[in-house]
Amino acid sequence: MALSSSPAASKGIVVTVPTLVLSALVAAVFLFFLLSTLSSCSCPSAADTPISNGNGFHNDIARSVSGNTPLSTTKGDVEWLKYQIQLNGLHMHDNVLRKGINPRTRAQQLQDLRQFKGISHYEGPESDNHTALPCPGELLVEEHHSNYGEPWAGGRDVFEFLAQSSQLKPDSRVLEIGCGTLRVGLHFIRFLTPEHFHCLERDELSLMAAFRYELPSQGLLFKRPLIVKGEDMDFSKFGSGVMYDLIYASAVFLHMPDKLVWVGLERLATRLKPYEGRIFISHNIKFCSRLGGEECTKRLTSLGLEYIGKHTHDSLLFNHYEIWFEFRRSKA
Ligand SMILES: C[S@@+](CC[C@H](N)C(=O)[O-])C[C@H]1O[C@@H](n2cnc3c(N)ncnc32)[C@H](O)[C@@H]1O
Repeated sequence: MALSSSPAASKGIVVTVPTLVLSALVAAVFLFFLLSTLSSCSCPSAADTPISNGNGFHNDIARSVSGNTPLSTTKGDVEWLKYQIQLNGLHMHDNVLRKGINPRTRAQQLQDLRQFKGISHYEGPESDNHTALPCPGELLVEEHHSNYGEPWAGGRDVFEFLAQSSQLKPDSRVLEIGCGTLRVGLHFIRFLTPEHFHCLERDELSLMAAFRYELPSQGLLFKRPLIVKGEDMDFSKFGSGVMYDLIYASAVFLHMPDKLVWVGLERLATRLKPYEGRIFISHNIKFCSRLGGEECTKRLTSLGLEYIGKHTHDSLLFNHYEIWFEFRRSKA
């Protein structure tokens, strides 16, 4: 059987039914592949653009290449959030006593915890048997979240800046000098493969907050971060063969004697991946400038390190920017 349209027929073109069905099938398959390619494309869109990269420091990759875990807050995220607040008609109010809500300061909450031994608890000889990791009250009320001048939320800003700048992947290896209470480190630990986050920290109470409250309460014990107590830039406990993609010191080197910083840099230089590995130091590099520009460059060069530049990064939640100094290893 032959099917013919009149103009085609007039020109002598005949289209058979099987040909027509086959053509429709080919077109449908083509359309399916085109649509699925478009919908699975991971190309960054305008909404994926990171909202802040500081003064001129730019990196368009807002999403981690491997794994799809976001590294940064995007313009799209911010728009979505603002819309949710608007949609719900939300405004700030005084946080006063109201039905079902009994606002407490940290001190009051700690007193309640001590006085009433928690909200609901077992009595008598049974009372200690039901808590696998009993946590001190002052950690439970998060006193350590107010240990630094900066809000706790600033930890996320630091993570986003460093993760973007070093093009962090889940299997990257990261060392933090002075991770404190894990304000920043938590975000790295969450993102990285187990055992890939290392830290050297000197303050015992901060380490207690990290181990006894932050890791368990965030469900991150399975990440097995290697956190070592120490203050003399001794990295021997981290193993001799580990090469780091990122080494950073957030608000730490400014509190250390210059001599100790240089000892640390000398030891760290050999543990940084040549060329692509990065060292980031926040706030200032007075340990360097106090030597004088030329002398500092000479000293860095003798360690096989190279200063790349200074960057700033705006906070997402409060009016603040952080200053970062970037270094790399210039010799294999
Ligand atoms: C301002 S806090 C910053 C903590 C964390 N990096 C952050 O940004 O949230 C400085 C930290 O550096 C630690 N620190 C200072 N000197 C140190 C040293 N020599 N070795 C290891 N940690 C040190 C302090 O104990 C403290 O936890």
